[in-house]
Amino acid sequence: MERVFSGAQPTGNLHLGNYLGAIRNWVALQKDFECIFCVVDLHAITVWQEPNELRSNIRELAASMIASGIDPEKHVLFNQSQVSAHAELAWIFNCVARIGWLNRMTQFKEKAGKNRENASLGLYAYPSLMAADILAYKATHVPVGEDQKQHLELTRDIAIKFNNDFGVEFFPQPDPLILGPATRVMSLRDGSKKMSKSDASDMSRINMTDDADTLAKKIRKAKTDPEPLPSEAAGLEGRPEAKNLITIYAALTDANVADVLAEHGGTQFSGFKQALTDVVVEKLAPITEEMARLKADNTYIDAVLAKGAERADAIAQPILKEVKEIVGF
Ligand code: ADP
Ligand code: NA
Repeated sequence: MERVFSGAQPTGNLHLGNYLGAIRNWVALQKDFECIFCVVDLHAITVWQEPNELRSNIRELAASMIASGIDPEKHVLFNQSQVSAHAELAWIFNCVARIGWLNRMTQFKEKAGKNRENASLGLYAYPSLMAADILAYKATHVPVGEDQKQHLELTRDIAIKFNNDFGVEFFPQPDPLILGPATRVMSLRDGSKKMSKSDASDMSRINMTDDADTLAKKIRKAKTDPEPLPSEAAGLEGRPEAKNLITIYAALTDANVADVLAEHGGTQFSGFKQALTDVVVEKLAPITEEMARLKADNTYIDAVLAKGAERADAIAQPILKEVKEIVGF
Protein backbone atom coordinates (compact mmCIF):
# COMPACT_ATOMS: atom_id res chain seq x y z
CA MET A 1 0.00 0.00 0.00
CA GLU A 2 1.14 3.52 -0.69
CA ARG A 3 2.45 5.35 2.34
CA VAL A 4 1.85 8.97 3.31
CA PHE A 5 3.96 11.00 5.69
CA SER A 6 2.42 14.17 7.16
CA GLY A 7 3.95 16.43 9.79
CA ALA A 8 2.67 19.38 11.79
CA GLN A 9 4.62 21.64 14.11
CA PRO A 10 3.51 21.83 17.75
CA THR A 11 3.76 25.59 17.95
CA GLY A 12 0.39 26.44 19.50
CA ASN A 13 -2.72 28.45 18.60
CA LEU A 14 -4.20 25.77 16.35
CA HIS A 15 -6.77 27.50 14.18
CA LEU A 16 -9.44 26.93 11.57
CA GLY A 17 -6.84 27.36 8.79
CA ASN A 18 -4.83 24.45 10.18
CA TYR A 19 -8.01 22.39 10.40
CA LEU A 20 -9.40 23.15 6.91
CA GLY A 21 -6.01 23.42 5.20
CA ALA A 22 -4.33 20.40 6.78
CA ILE A 23 -5.84 18.25 9.53
CA ARG A 24 -9.20 17.64 7.85
CA ASN A 25 -7.47 16.56 4.64
CA TRP A 26 -5.26 14.14 6.55
CA VAL A 27 -8.30 12.56 8.12
CA ALA A 28 -9.63 11.90 4.61
CA LEU A 29 -6.34 10.28 3.48
CA GLN A 30 -6.71 7.49 6.00
CA LYS A 31 -9.02 5.44 3.85
CA ASP A 32 -6.68 5.27 0.83
CA PHE A 33 -3.20 5.25 2.36
CA GLU A 34 -1.14 3.88 5.17
CA CYS A 35 -0.55 7.13 7.06
CA ILE A 36 2.27 8.25 9.30
CA PHE A 37 1.29 11.38 11.22
CA CYS A 38 4.11 13.11 13.02
CA VAL A 39 4.14 15.92 15.57
CA VAL A 40 7.38 17.49 14.38
CA ASP A 41 8.83 18.88 17.58
CA LEU A 42 12.41 18.78 16.27
CA HIS A 43 11.32 21.19 13.54
CA ALA A 44 9.56 23.38 16.10
CA ILE A 45 12.78 24.12 18.02
CA THR A 46 14.44 25.60 14.94
CA VAL A 47 12.98 28.75 16.48
CA TRP A 48 12.84 29.29 20.24
CA GLN A 49 10.14 27.36 22.13
CA GLU A 50 9.51 27.79 25.82
CA PRO A 51 9.91 24.20 27.17
CA ASN A 52 6.65 24.00 29.16
CA GLU A 53 4.68 25.51 26.30
CA LEU A 54 6.29 23.09 23.86
CA ARG A 55 5.30 20.13 26.05
CA SER A 56 1.73 21.39 26.22
CA ASN A 57 1.59 22.17 22.48
CA ILE A 58 2.77 18.67 21.58
CA ARG A 59 -0.13 17.17 23.52
CA GLU A 60 -2.59 19.73 22.19
CA LEU A 61 -1.67 19.00 18.58
CA ALA A 62 -1.93 15.25 19.13
CA ALA A 63 -5.29 15.76 20.87
CA SER A 64 -6.59 17.93 18.01
CA MET A 65 -5.61 15.30 15.46
CA ILE A 66 -7.32 12.49 17.37
CA ALA A 67 -10.37 14.66 18.09
CA SER A 68 -10.60 15.53 14.37
CA GLY A 69 -10.69 11.88 13.36
CA ILE A 70 -7.09 10.68 13.02
CA ASP A 71 -7.16 7.03 14.07
CA PRO A 72 -4.00 6.21 16.04
CA GLU A 73 -4.86 2.52 16.06
CA LYS A 74 -5.10 2.02 12.29
CA HIS A 75 -2.41 4.58 11.46
CA VAL A 76 0.72 5.85 13.18
CA LEU A 77 0.64 9.03 15.29
CA PHE A 78 3.79 9.98 17.16
CA ASN A 79 6.22 12.60 18.24
CA GLN A 80 9.34 13.12 16.10
CA SER A 81 11.83 13.48 18.95
CA GLN A 82 10.86 10.00 20.23
CA VAL A 83 12.16 8.26 17.10
CA SER A 84 15.90 8.76 16.77
CA ALA A 85 15.99 7.73 13.09
CA HIS A 86 14.82 11.25 12.13
CA ALA A 87 17.84 13.01 13.62
CA GLU A 88 20.29 10.28 12.53
CA LEU A 89 19.14 10.23 8.93
CA ALA A 90 19.00 14.03 8.85
CA TRP A 91 22.71 14.11 9.69
CA ILE A 92 23.52 11.75 6.85
CA PHE A 93 21.40 13.91 4.54
CA ASN A 94 23.26 17.01 5.74
CA CYS A 95 26.29 15.35 4.21
CA VAL A 96 24.45 14.51 0.97
CA ALA A 97 22.72 17.86 0.38
CA ARG A 98 24.80 20.75 -0.97
CA ILE A 99 24.99 24.17 0.66
CA GLY A 100 23.95 25.70 -2.66
CA TRP A 101 20.69 23.74 -2.57
CA LEU A 102 19.82 25.00 0.88
CA ASN A 103 20.76 28.55 -0.10
CA ARG A 104 17.91 28.50 -2.60
CA MET A 105 15.19 27.74 -0.03
CA THR A 106 12.82 30.68 0.04
CA GLN A 107 11.22 29.71 3.36
CA PHE A 108 14.54 30.05 5.17
CA LYS A 109 14.94 33.53 3.74
CA GLU A 110 11.44 34.46 4.89
CA LYS A 111 11.70 32.92 8.35
CA ALA A 112 15.23 34.11 9.06
CA GLY A 113 14.32 37.64 8.03
CA LYS A 114 16.90 40.37 7.78
CA ASN A 115 19.12 39.10 10.58
CA ARG A 116 20.06 35.88 8.81
CA GLU A 117 23.37 35.52 10.62
CA ASN A 118 21.44 35.13 13.86
CA ALA A 119 19.06 32.38 12.66
CA SER A 120 19.69 28.92 14.10
CA LEU A 121 21.70 26.45 12.06
CA GLY A 122 18.70 24.13 12.53
CA LEU A 123 16.41 26.55 10.70
CA TYR A 124 18.82 26.47 7.77
CA ALA A 125 19.03 22.66 7.78
CA TYR A 126 15.27 22.24 8.29
CA PRO A 127 14.63 20.87 4.75
CA SER A 128 17.25 18.18 5.30
CA LEU A 129 15.40 17.01 8.44
CA MET A 130 12.16 17.09 6.47
CA ALA A 131 13.75 14.81 3.86
CA ALA A 132 14.72 12.44 6.68
CA ASP A 133 11.16 12.50 8.08
CA ILE A 134 9.79 11.33 4.76
CA LEU A 135 12.51 8.97 3.60
CA ALA A 136 12.99 7.23 6.96
CA TYR A 137 9.67 5.56 6.10
CA LYS A 138 10.22 5.45 2.33
CA ALA A 139 6.95 7.36 2.11
CA THR A 140 5.59 7.52 -1.42
CA HIS A 141 3.31 10.54 -0.97
CA VAL A 142 3.43 13.75 1.01
CA PRO A 143 0.53 16.21 1.29
CA VAL A 144 2.14 19.60 0.85
CA GLY A 145 0.85 23.14 0.74
CA GLU A 146 2.32 25.78 -1.54
CA ASP A 147 4.87 26.72 1.16
CA GLN A 148 6.37 23.21 1.33
CA LYS A 149 6.60 22.39 -2.38
CA GLN A 150 10.20 23.56 -2.66
CA HIS A 151 11.18 21.46 0.36
CA LEU A 152 9.65 18.35 -1.17
CA GLU A 153 11.63 19.02 -4.35
CA LEU A 154 14.74 19.09 -2.18
CA THR A 155 13.73 15.78 -0.62
CA ARG A 156 13.56 14.28 -4.11
CA ASP A 157 16.99 15.76 -4.96
CA ILE A 158 18.46 14.27 -1.78
CA ALA A 159 16.94 10.86 -2.58
CA ILE A 160 18.38 10.98 -6.11
CA LYS A 161 21.83 12.12 -4.99
CA PHE A 162 21.99 9.51 -2.23
CA ASN A 163 21.11 6.79 -4.75
CA ASN A 164 23.67 8.12 -7.26
CA ASP A 165 26.47 8.69 -4.75
CA PHE A 166 26.25 5.16 -3.42
CA GLY A 167 25.18 3.44 -6.65
CA VAL A 168 21.95 2.05 -5.20
CA GLU A 169 18.26 2.23 -5.98
CA PHE A 170 17.32 2.68 -2.37
CA PHE A 171 15.17 5.75 -1.71
CA PRO A 172 11.96 6.39 -3.66
CA GLN A 173 11.24 9.88 -4.90
CA PRO A 174 8.12 10.85 -2.99
CA ASP A 175 5.32 12.60 -4.85
CA PRO A 176 3.36 15.59 -3.63
CA LEU A 177 -0.25 14.86 -2.87
CA ILE A 178 -2.57 17.44 -4.28
CA LEU A 179 -5.62 17.53 -2.06
CA GLY A 180 -8.16 19.18 -4.34
CA PRO A 181 -8.66 22.93 -4.22
CA ALA A 182 -6.79 24.01 -1.11
CA THR A 183 -8.85 26.03 1.34
CA ARG A 184 -6.81 29.05 2.22
CA VAL A 185 -8.36 30.63 5.27
CA MET A 186 -7.66 34.33 5.70
CA SER A 187 -7.47 36.50 8.80
CA LEU A 188 -10.82 37.70 10.16
CA ARG A 189 -9.33 41.18 10.55
CA ASP A 190 -7.53 41.52 7.20
CA GLY A 191 -8.56 39.56 4.12
CA SER A 192 -5.14 39.98 2.53
CA LYS A 193 -3.36 37.99 5.26
CA LYS A 194 -3.52 34.27 6.00
CA MET A 195 -5.14 33.25 9.25
CA SER A 196 -2.03 32.46 11.27
CA LYS A 197 -0.97 31.23 14.68
CA SER A 198 1.61 33.99 14.81
CA ASP A 199 -0.84 36.87 14.28
CA ALA A 200 -0.66 39.06 17.39
CA SER A 201 -4.43 39.57 17.40
CA ASP A 202 -6.42 36.62 18.73
CA MET A 203 -9.51 38.18 17.09
CA SER A 204 -7.91 37.46 13.70
CA ARG A 205 -8.33 33.72 14.03
CA ILE A 206 -10.77 31.01 15.01
CA ASN A 207 -8.87 28.80 17.42
CA MET A 208 -9.72 25.13 17.69
CA THR A 209 -9.99 25.68 21.45
CA ASP A 210 -12.46 28.62 21.28
CA ASP A 211 -15.81 28.13 23.01
CA ALA A 212 -19.12 28.97 21.31
CA ASP A 213 -19.37 32.49 22.81
CA THR A 214 -15.86 33.37 21.69
CA LEU A 215 -16.55 32.02 18.18
CA ALA A 216 -19.76 34.06 17.97
CA LYS A 217 -17.97 37.22 19.09
CA LYS A 218 -15.06 36.78 16.67
CA ILE A 219 -17.36 36.15 13.72
CA ARG A 220 -19.68 39.05 14.66
CA LYS A 221 -16.65 41.37 14.77
CA ALA A 222 -15.03 39.95 11.64
CA LYS A 223 -14.23 42.65 9.11
CA THR A 224 -16.68 42.90 6.18
CA ASP A 225 -17.82 45.58 3.77
CA PRO A 226 -21.24 47.27 3.79
CA GLU A 227 -22.54 45.46 0.67
CA PRO A 228 -24.86 42.44 0.90
CA LEU A 229 -23.66 39.01 -0.29
CA PRO A 230 -23.50 38.84 -4.10
CA SER A 231 -25.49 36.14 -5.84
CA GLU A 232 -22.54 34.93 -7.96
CA ALA A 233 -18.86 34.25 -7.25
CA ALA A 234 -17.78 37.00 -9.68
CA GLY A 235 -19.33 39.50 -7.26
CA LEU A 236 -16.67 38.61 -4.67
CA GLU A 237 -13.94 40.15 -6.80
CA GLY A 238 -12.13 42.81 -4.76
CA ARG A 239 -13.98 41.78 -1.55
CA PRO A 240 -11.45 39.55 0.22
CA GLU A 241 -13.13 39.61 3.66
CA ALA A 242 -16.53 38.71 2.22
CA LYS A 243 -14.96 36.00 0.10
CA ASN A 244 -13.19 34.55 3.13
CA LEU A 245 -16.32 34.19 5.26
CA ILE A 246 -18.21 32.59 2.38
CA THR A 247 -15.30 30.26 1.61
CA ILE A 248 -15.20 29.13 5.25
CA TYR A 249 -18.94 28.48 5.19
CA ALA A 250 -18.63 26.50 1.95
CA ALA A 251 -15.71 24.41 3.24
CA LEU A 252 -17.42 23.54 6.51
CA THR A 253 -20.67 22.55 4.81
CA ASP A 254 -18.92 20.64 1.97
CA ALA A 255 -20.59 22.94 -0.52
CA ASN A 256 -19.05 25.15 -3.18
CA VAL A 257 -19.09 28.93 -3.09
CA ALA A 258 -21.67 29.12 -5.89
CA ASP A 259 -24.13 27.01 -3.86
CA VAL A 260 -23.66 29.18 -0.79
CA LEU A 261 -24.26 32.33 -2.83
CA ALA A 262 -27.32 30.82 -4.52
CA GLU A 263 -28.77 30.37 -1.04
CA HIS A 264 -27.56 33.52 0.74
CA GLY A 265 -26.98 36.02 -2.13
CA GLY A 266 -28.67 39.38 -1.53
CA THR A 267 -28.78 38.98 2.27
CA GLN A 268 -26.82 41.16 4.70
CA PHE A 269 -23.63 40.03 6.39
CA SER A 270 -25.17 40.47 9.82
CA GLY A 271 -27.54 37.60 9.07
CA PHE A 272 -24.97 35.52 7.22
CA LYS A 273 -22.54 35.85 10.14
CA GLN A 274 -25.19 34.29 12.38
CA ALA A 275 -25.55 31.38 9.94
CA LEU A 276 -21.77 31.06 9.75
CA THR A 277 -21.48 31.04 13.54
CA ASP A 278 -24.02 28.21 13.71
CA VAL A 279 -22.03 26.17 11.18
CA VAL A 280 -18.66 26.85 12.83
CA VAL A 281 -20.02 25.94 16.26
CA GLU A 282 -21.76 22.82 14.91
CA LYS A 283 -18.57 21.57 13.22
CA LEU A 284 -15.95 22.68 15.74
CA ALA A 285 -17.70 22.18 19.08
CA PRO A 286 -17.52 18.36 19.03
CA ILE A 287 -13.80 18.56 18.18
CA THR A 288 -13.13 21.23 20.80
CA GLU A 289 -14.96 19.21 23.46
CA GLU A 290 -13.12 16.04 22.58
CA MET A 291 -9.79 17.92 22.62
CA ALA A 292 -10.57 19.22 26.11
CA ARG A 293 -11.53 15.74 27.26
CA LEU A 294 -8.31 14.25 25.85
CA LYS A 295 -6.16 17.06 27.21
CA ALA A 296 -7.53 16.50 30.69
CA ASP A 297 -5.83 13.10 30.59
CA ASN A 298 -2.15 13.50 29.72
CA THR A 299 -1.52 9.84 30.43
CA TYR A 300 -3.79 8.80 27.55
CA ILE A 301 -2.16 11.15 25.01
CA ASP A 302 1.31 10.20 26.23
CA ALA A 303 0.47 6.51 25.89
CA VAL A 304 -0.86 7.00 22.35
CA LEU A 305 2.31 8.88 21.37
CA ALA A 306 4.56 6.29 23.02
CA LYS A 307 2.85 3.43 21.20
CA GLY A 308 2.96 5.41 17.96
CA ALA A 309 6.70 5.99 18.43
CA GLU A 310 7.27 2.26 18.87
CA ARG A 311 5.43 1.51 15.65
CA ALA A 312 7.19 4.31 13.76
CA ASP A 313 10.53 3.07 15.06
CA ALA A 314 9.74 -0.45 13.87
CA ILE A 315 9.36 0.89 10.31
CA ALA A 316 12.26 3.36 10.37
CA GLN A 317 14.96 1.33 12.14
CA PRO A 318 15.39 -1.39 9.49
CA ILE A 319 15.55 1.31 6.80
CA LEU A 320 18.14 3.25 8.80
CA LYS A 321 20.14 0.07 9.38
CA GLU A 322 20.35 -0.48 5.62
CA VAL A 323 21.31 3.16 5.09
CA LYS A 324 24.16 2.79 7.56
CA GLU A 325 25.44 -0.28 5.76
CA ILE A 326 25.22 1.53 2.41
CA VAL A 327 27.15 4.50 3.83
CA GLY A 328 29.86 2.24 5.24
CA PHE A 329 29.22 2.39 8.99
P1 ADP B 1 0.80 28.81 10.61
O1 ADP B 1 0.77 29.14 9.14
O2 ADP B 1 -0.39 29.34 11.36
O3 ADP B 1 2.12 29.19 11.24
P2 ADP B 1 1.70 26.11 10.24
O4 ADP B 1 2.75 26.70 9.39
O5 ADP B 1 2.12 25.32 11.43
O6 ADP B 1 0.68 27.23 10.72
O7 ADP B 1 0.76 25.24 9.34
C1 ADP B 1 0.34 23.93 9.62
C2 ADP B 1 -0.50 23.44 8.46
O8 ADP B 1 -1.69 24.22 8.35
C3 ADP B 1 0.18 23.56 7.11
O9 ADP B 1 -0.16 22.43 6.32
C4 ADP B 1 -0.39 24.80 6.50
O10 ADP B 1 -0.40 24.78 5.10
C5 ADP B 1 -1.80 24.80 7.06
N1 ADP B 1 -2.27 26.16 7.22
C6 ADP B 1 -1.77 27.09 8.08
N2 ADP B 1 -2.44 28.25 7.98
C7 ADP B 1 -3.41 28.06 7.05
C8 ADP B 1 -4.45 28.88 6.51
N3 ADP B 1 -4.64 30.13 6.94
N4 ADP B 1 -5.28 28.35 5.58
C9 ADP B 1 -5.11 27.07 5.15
N5 ADP B 1 -4.15 26.24 5.63
C10 ADP B 1 -3.30 26.71 6.55
NA1 NA C 1 2.62 28.04 7.44
